[in-house]
Amino acid sequence: MIPSALINVMVKAARRAGRSLKRDLGEIENLQVSLKGPANYVSNADKRAEEMLYTDLAKARPGYGFLGEEGGVREGTDKSHTWIVDPLDGTTNFLHGIPQFAISIGLQRDDVLIAGVIYNPANDELYISERGKGAFLNDQRLRVAGRKQLHDCVIACGLPHIGRGDLQHGLKELATMMPKVAGLRRFGAASLDLAAVAAGRLDGYWERDLQPWDLAAGMLMIREAGGTVSGMLGNDDPLKTGHVICGNENIHRELVKVLKAVG
Ligand code: IPD
Ligand code: CA
Ligand code: CA
Repeated sequence: MIPSALINVMVKAARRAGRSLKRDLGEIENLQVSLKGPANYVSNADKRAEEMLYTDLAKARPGYGFLGEEGGVREGTDKSHTWIVDPLDGTTNFLHGIPQFAISIGLQRDDVLIAGVIYNPANDELYISERGKGAFLNDQRLRVAGRKQLHDCVIACGLPHIGRGDLQHGLKELATMMPKVAGLRRFGAASLDLAAVAAGRLDGYWERDLQPWDLAAGMLMIREAGGTVSGMLGNDDPLKTGHVICGNENIHRELVKVLKAVG
């Protein structure tokens, strides 16, 4: 697969920010962190990575808008294009030295996702996708898993935690799902959960209360790998609702049915 000029720009930016994060991972105990919430930290690494990404992407594509987790909306003169960026997805993993975190860069053109890059600098796994051109992991073409029965499947999810999410509802979803599947997993970086579904490593994934920067790149990745992505209703847009259910067509349908029954 010969990456397009656009993908090359995104990959170059992701790799440069990734080198910075990898250095910071090595010095994690020295990082200045400020509490942003009970279990949610903003690290200097996070902010530095976003500024590097903004600088590189703005230089390569002047005028594009930029929506980043740390800096919010930065309007561009080109109203058709918007970068949707999480400079460090899996912040809690990162701050605990767990090598499951990623830089996630999505690009929207007139509200349509057209390109995505998800890069884990800890293991150098680079996921790329472009609308109509497939999804790839380190140059290997991706296809979602083919399992058709939920009882054969390993499914990832999010979990409420101190100060985050509805504990009782989350427990109801887990209690309903656990007896129906071969296994549940909680990895702590939504973009990599989505990428793992695209790669067929996970059969499905669901999570509530996410942000566009968690979702954008991974949603395109899954669709380009032949999978289905929606919100909780099965045909709604996770970028608008913040909730996501995904998998191959059969498993997505099964997950929607089970989770709808929980309410
Ligand atoms: C978080 C991760 C986590 C998900 C949270 C997100 P962050 O992103 O993606 O897996 O459960 O909802 O906020 O805060 O580490 O960028
Ligand atoms: Ca995130
Ligand atoms: Ca983040």
